[in-house]
Amino acid sequence: MRYGRTTLSKFLIEQTRGDAALSDLAALLIDVAAAVKSISAMVSKGALGGYLGSLEVQNVQGETQKKLDVLTNEAMLANCEWGGLVAGMVSEELEEPYAIPGEYPRGNYLLAFDPLDGSSNIDVNVSVGTIFSVLRHTANAAPDATSFLRPGREQLAAGYALYGPSTMLVLTVGRGTHGFTLDREIGNFILTHPDLTIPADTSEFAINVSNERFWEPPIQRYVGECKAGRSGVRERDFNMRWIASMVAEVHRILMRGGVFMYPSFTKDPVRSGRLRLLYEANPMAMLIEQAGGAASTGRGRMLDVAPTNIHQRVPVVLGSSNEVARIERYHQEFDCGADQPYVSPLFNERSLYRQEAT
Ligand code: AHG
Ligand code: MN
Ligand code: MN
Repeated sequence: MRYGRTTLSKFLIEQTRGDAALSDLAALLIDVAAAVKSISAMVSKGALGGYLGSLEVQNVQGETQKKLDVLTNEAMLANCEWGGLVAGMVSEELEEPYAIPGEYPRGNYLLAFDPLDGSSNIDVNVSVGTIFSVLRHTANAAPDATSFLRPGREQLAAGYALYGPSTMLVLTVGRGTHGFTLDREIGNFILTHPDLTIPADTSEFAINVSNERFWEPPIQRYVGECKAGRSGVRERDFNMRWIASMVAEVHRILMRGGVFMYPSFTKDPVRSGRLRLLYEANPMAMLIEQAGGAASTGRGRMLDVAPTNIHQRVPVVLGSSNEVARIERYHQEFDCGADQPYVSPLFNERSLYRQEAT
């Protein structure tokens, strides 16, 4: 059935119609979708495209860039710089904000993105993605780095593309989270997953357990209880997944629930987590909240974090709301010393003062 389907353009025009504050947002997201289509074509060619492998350079994060990190970054810049919609862009692959070239008009939106998320998976043909976040630029002057330092709750739109067996675009303009699948024959994104909803409860968690010895005690406690399963305080078995592509992990959580954690490393307090606030954690947090889930640093709502640096890292806990609430509670109990049963038996997991399912 090809006719009567809702294309991305139709959906976005309908979602933003009549809202002056969102005028032009549909056009910007259609530019992002154009970049996503060209990235999808590059990624799917694999070794045949000659794009695989690393370059001899490091990005601002000190990570060796893959050829595709560079090419996907260029695809995002080229598709979004010309239309008079964007005032400036921040990318994981660029140390400084990208200024719109003088030949193009400057618009009112700020775009932050991770052009290729999970790029360590590229050479092994495992799913990767693109993540993006849209803020409003209110000043008349061209934006600088401080213009992007807005809490995530001010995002006007956020989304990701997942380059998996099919290419999907999942986005929000603050009116729910919706998924589109690329119909390669006609080159359109088609609405296939409207109004995604994350179940509040789950028995599936995702974390890189090889870092366990570096986690803070609240995360060790939570994961330890999940691993203990039926024989522990949770009294049920849990399942674990780790794809090493945040986009793929978040997508799984939007499809069937779950909790994803990338906590800070106690071994290195300066390196607060691995994921970047502006173009990884914040857009994912908006998508998750818009689907009824929760996103936290473990010690507060992700979307309320006040950024201090465009490339800053942040601990991430997101997904099914009851599990995120439980992990936040474990942080609170740890911070006030109440997580040790021998310190205060009243706060023990099975005590009178514990509410089940929080
Ligand atoms: P990027 O490829 O943009 O650097 O991001 C990779 C991120 C994220 O996608 C994933 O969850 C995490 O790094 C994987 O980390 P590990 O290497 O610890 O598995
Ligand atoms: Mn990434
Ligand atoms: Mn990346």
